[in-house]
Amino acid sequence: MNKYSLFLNKIYNRLFNDYFGKKINYDFPKDIMRWDLVNLVIEKKNYKSYLEIGCDKDLLFSKIKNIDKKIGVDPVSGGNFRGTSDKFFFQNKERFDCIFIDGLHTYNQVKLDILNSVDALNDGGTIFVHDCLPVNFYQQAVPRCKVLWTGDVWRSIVELRTFQNLDVCVCEIDLGVGVIKKRKNSDRLNLSNVNFSKLKFEEYYKNYKEFMRITTFENILKFINS
Ligand SMILES: C[S@@+](CC[C@H](N)C(=O)[O-])C[C@H]1O[C@@H](n2cnc3c(N)ncnc32)[C@H](O)[C@@H]1O
Repeated sequence: MNKYSLFLNKIYNRLFNDYFGKKINYDFPKDIMRWDLVNLVIEKKNYKSYLEIGCDKDLLFSKIKNIDKKIGVDPVSGGNFRGTSDKFFFQNKERFDCIFIDGLHTYNQVKLDILNSVDALNDGGTIFVHDCLPVNFYQQAVPRCKVLWTGDVWRSIVELRTFQNLDVCVCEIDLGVGVIKKRKNSDRLNLSNVNFSKLKFEEYYKNYKEFMRITTFENILKFINS
């Protein structure tokens, strides 16, 4: 997106999108990135197949090594399947041990990508979701108004945290990497009568530790193996 569109979107978000001005200081380690987490889990679990939704310049995709099957989906660049995640899942008949979701960062699309990934996941597999922990209002606002943009991925994670059959936490690295296991929810979030697509950033700011079940990199294998 060009700077002019980002600027216009920023004004729109400020005026019409429940602006809230406080910032969150996460404890992101500088030397641990998403590929460290994904490669660690692939190695420890002896995973054989990998799917990535949204590859861009293959920063992550190119670092996934020692795997038998590797598919990367992107409508514009990177990976090895040219098209949207919807197009990919519509024709897909394969299953994967590990899936990394990093495509279009809007609540509806991320939720759909997660639910399609759950269907395409092998037993014992793990789903990762990038950009779950926005630092401030503008970084998460839709329409996009920042170059470094998490979108409202966080809203889909909060909703999933209320599901009975998915166990979800967020690893505190690299703008937040959600970790999803297909099993009984071991720490279910009790939220009822909530329209998750309209949840406000102010609510997130006040409750993010509980909403996101933030977990350190050191404890993530314990969560995955539990
Ligand atoms: C943040 S980048 C991905 C970064 C990459 N995963 C990495 O770790 O370096 C997001 C990518 O998602 C792609 N994208 C946008 N909409 C998509 C969709 N509907 N399905 C799949 N990919 C999409 C964009 O073209 C862009 O390349």
